Amino acid sequence: MLAELSSELIVEVQRTAKLLVAKQRICVLTGAGVSAESGIPTFRDKQTGLWSQYRAEDLATCTAFARDPQLVWSWYQWGRQLVSDKTPNPAHHALAQWQQHAGLKNQQLTIVTQNVDDLHEQADSTVTHLHGHLWRNRCSQCDMPHNGVSNSKSFNRVTSNRNSSDNSSTAHNYNEKLLNCTDCGGYIRPDIVWFGESLPSEAWQTAENAAANCEVFISIGTSSLVYPAAGLAQIAKQNGAKIIEINPNPTPNTVVDITLVANAGVVMPQLFSQISVLLS
Ligand code: APR
Repeated sequence: MLAELSSELIVEVQRTAKLLVAKQRICVLTGAGVSAESGIPTFRDKQTGLWSQYRAEDLATCTAFARDPQLVWSWYQWGRQLVSDKTPNPAHHALAQWQQHAGLKNQQLTIVTQNVDDLHEQADSTVTHLHGHLWRNRCSQCDMPHNGVSNSKSFNRVTSNRNSSDNSSTAHNYNEKLLNCTDCGGYIRPDIVWFGESLPSEAWQTAENAAANCEVFISIGTSSLVYPAAGLAQIAKQNGAKIIEINPNPTPNTVVDITLVANAGVVMPQLFSQISVLLS
């Protein structure tokens, strides 16, 4: 498997693994790139990124939802459909295995994600979501969680186990019909943090503490353009952490000590395998 990597990258992975096993507290921040090899488009990659095809200001702001709730709801229902059959890739699995292994070796691996998919959870990681959850809904007016099964992934999983000739139920899974809150009548929206909105305070606190207290901070598959998440690397650096970036493309992150220029799904299994050898 190491043969998939260039000799320079193999050396960098080995150097990174040695650094990581010598440390106790590690914070990982993931972005859309970690799910790219599962078939979920990123936001800002040229041509394939969602924001190269759609305007974020028409779809991912409160103003957009107030102006045209139907358009925004339909777009997220389309997104849910797109993501519904996607599964974790080797990067998610390697992180989950490392997190489980770390617990046994007195290491603490905190994973924070900007992603709204649940692929880290599907791989069995414990993860803090900074930007919300694709599969949850809440009221746009009173904030009440909304558990309408017709729009939840669990409903989809249940129906997919049914007899395949029963198509009538699956047709409702990603219904574009707007829903109303049973409490106040407001429109139901996805429980996702849109541009201009605050991050959930508990999740941010967890992320900020993990970044401030870690000895190594690893940024995987994020363009490092969206704050406050992009500022976590700086918080870690100011507190003396080493910063590692895993990304096939350059980013504006200026505090990086080691860059592994490769896809996360290729480099993470290699990194974990080196770490587990060194930790055993
Ligand atoms: N492995 C690692 N990195 C990858 C891969 C891969 N296989 N494929 C692409 N990337 C990198 C890209 O080079 C890019 O730097 O992933 C990054 C994805 O960047 P963005 O699309 O900007 O995604 P992200 O950083 O997660 O966006 C942050 O912006 O629109 C908002 O709320 C949304 O959470 C999102 C936030």
